[in-house]
Amino acid sequence: MIEVNNLHKSFGDVEILKGISTTFDKGKTNLIIGQSGSGKTVFLKCLLGLFDYEEGTISYDGKIFSLLSEDEKRNLRAKIGMVFQGSALFDSMTIAQNVMFPLQMFTKQSKSEMEDRVDFVLKRVNLDDAHKKMPSEASGGMQKRVAIARAIVNNPMYLFCDEPNSGLDPKTAIVIDNLIQEITDEYQITTVINSHDMNSVMEIGEKIVFLKNGLKAWEGSNETIFKTDNESVTDFVYSSNLFKKVRKMYIEENE
Ligand SMILES: Nc1ncnc2c1ncn2[C@@H]1O[C@H](COP(=O)(O)OP(=O)(O)O)[C@@H](O)[C@H]1O
Ligand SMILES: [Mg+2]
Repeated sequence: MIEVNNLHKSFGDVEILKGISTTFDKGKTNLIIGQSGSGKTVFLKCLLGLFDYEEGTISYDGKIFSLLSEDEKRNLRAKIGMVFQGSALFDSMTIAQNVMFPLQMFTKQSKSEMEDRVDFVLKRVNLDDAHKKMPSEASGGMQKRVAIARAIVNNPMYLFCDEPNSGLDPKTAIVIDNLIQEITDEYQITTVINSHDMNSVMEIGEKIVFLKNGLKAWEGSNETIFKTDNESVTDFVYSSNLFKKVRKMYIEENE
């Protein structure tokens, strides 16, 4: 579980995160949603330890990050997997080499142990015969699956994904969302996913934190988001006509 308490983050004079407090649960897909520019990526980078912040604390299973020694911080980083926007694979490495990279960085495993682990995670994301391919030879959906395999190869306790299905067609996007949710449940990972996609909200929004202008404007789940009257949330959710219709049906059914 990750606990965030009163997180403030500025760039120069501009405050981007204005005091966010929330929790992200283990074994669940926790979504951070909100309009473009609401602070999702900045928040995720603070969680990853990539950005410093002026105020507030972030605890990983009870340990406050800023109070850890450099060694402890390094150990924690080894337990974090990440899937960046646009996959961010190394173009000059094969798919297998991409997936093996974190093992080479963070472990002292033998070559054959690493190869076995790479085989296992590539199978897990349904890419049995892609080892020797270059990323440029893989479709967008395949590249995401490689990025997920790479993110979980070192058995992470925490998994962070920034817009993992951006640029994918809706069907492939759902496959990727479901894969992340299955893996989260299977290995009991604390997973945090940035999204502005209502399909993801409905599919995998076990916990949802809604950001608006750097503040948490609402939190709940995919079961409660359609019931809230919070205007910022309804503006976001019903910006699509499809969901306006879903809401109308929901209200009629419950009258
Ligand atoms: N490195 C940076 N330096 C200055 N401002 C930044 C930086 N990164 C993000 N911002 C600003 O922070 C705000 C939130 O950005 P971001 O977290 O990327 O939004 P989102 O991911 O929700 O679309 C934006 O106004 C953006 O311009
Ligand atoms: Mg972003």
